[in-house]
Amino acid sequence: MPGVAFQWEYSYMRSPRVSGVLLFCLLLTSGAFVLAQPAAEPKPYEPEVGQQGKDVVWVPTSDALVEKMLDLANVTSRDRVIDLGSGDGRTVIAAARRGARALGIEYNPDMVALSRRNAEKAGVTKRATFVQADLFKTDLSRATVITMFLLPEINIKLRPTLLGLKPGTRIVSNSFSMEDWEADKRAVVEGEDAGCSSWCTALLWIVPTKVEGTWRLPDGELVLTQKFQMISGRLGKAPISKGRLRGTEISFFVGKDRYSGNVRANSMWGTVTTGGTSRTWAATRTDPQRASRQGGRPN
Ligand SMILES: C[S@@+](CC[C@H](N)C(=O)[O-])C[C@H]1O[C@@H](n2cnc3c(N)ncnc32)[C@H](O)[C@@H]1O
Repeated sequence: MPGVAFQWEYSYMRSPRVSGVLLFCLLLTSGAFVLAQPAAEPKPYEPEVGQQGKDVVWVPTSDALVEKMLDLANVTSRDRVIDLGSGDGRTVIAAARRGARALGIEYNPDMVALSRRNAEKAGVTKRATFVQADLFKTDLSRATVITMFLLPEINIKLRPTLLGLKPGTRIVSNSFSMEDWEADKRAVVEGEDAGCSSWCTALLWIVPTKVEGTWRLPDGELVLTQKFQMISGRLGKAPISKGRLRGTEISFFVGKDRYSGNVRANSMWGTVTTGGTSRTWAATRTDPQRASRQGGRPN
């Protein structure tokens, strides 16, 4: 009886026990199908420009400016470079390619893992190291070069630490200044053709040694006042002009005499040039308690 058969089929379909069994079988087979599929590769981590960072968002420095920054700081294989907020690792990797030992400090663990993969691809894992850490809680004292692309207010917060590093340590920043600590040098990557469309200025500072105080020369007493790398003061009664430090190198004029030389703790020495003639000079601190307490031997 077709009607009966129909009724039976219909009731079979509607029976809660039977339809539960059917559903179970269906799920079992589809589950087995899913399990039989090869496991999908997890998507590689891709950072997004502008993504949140602890104190600064991530925006990469263009490769052209990275090279300009390393050129400005004259990075060689003798250097120990630290990049503060190292992002995807590009500055550290570029420094390691020059033979330097380079360390990236980055707060975001995914960026640290990405940097390590990038260093591996570049074949520089021996010289490029990445640490997941807060840049404000990191010991920078062993660096000869610090690189950074942060923010003006972060640069200012870091400034006392940077000024306390070994005299001669080079600091390079992408675009952002240190306010009244003027850069010793700057360089620009001009335009897209040269490989940079935004954030294209590199600024360099060289940590000055501390010379403020009183020194004795055979020519008289030298009294120096210091503001970062700029110095003013007098030798005897004559004012000094164009006074400047570049790490441990000092230079100033007294009238037409140009004094240049080196500073080491409580001594400085060098050459005085007037017109075509030159002679040597040397000075000793008469207030040695003011001597430099900066981080150890100069870089
Ligand atoms: C503007 S990006 C610069 C990245 C890289 N230095 C470059 O020039 O391509 C700033 C980086 O600093 C990281 N950062 C922000 N605050 C930080 C902190 N307190 N400690 C360590 N890294 C931080 C961010 O995650 C981001 O990767």
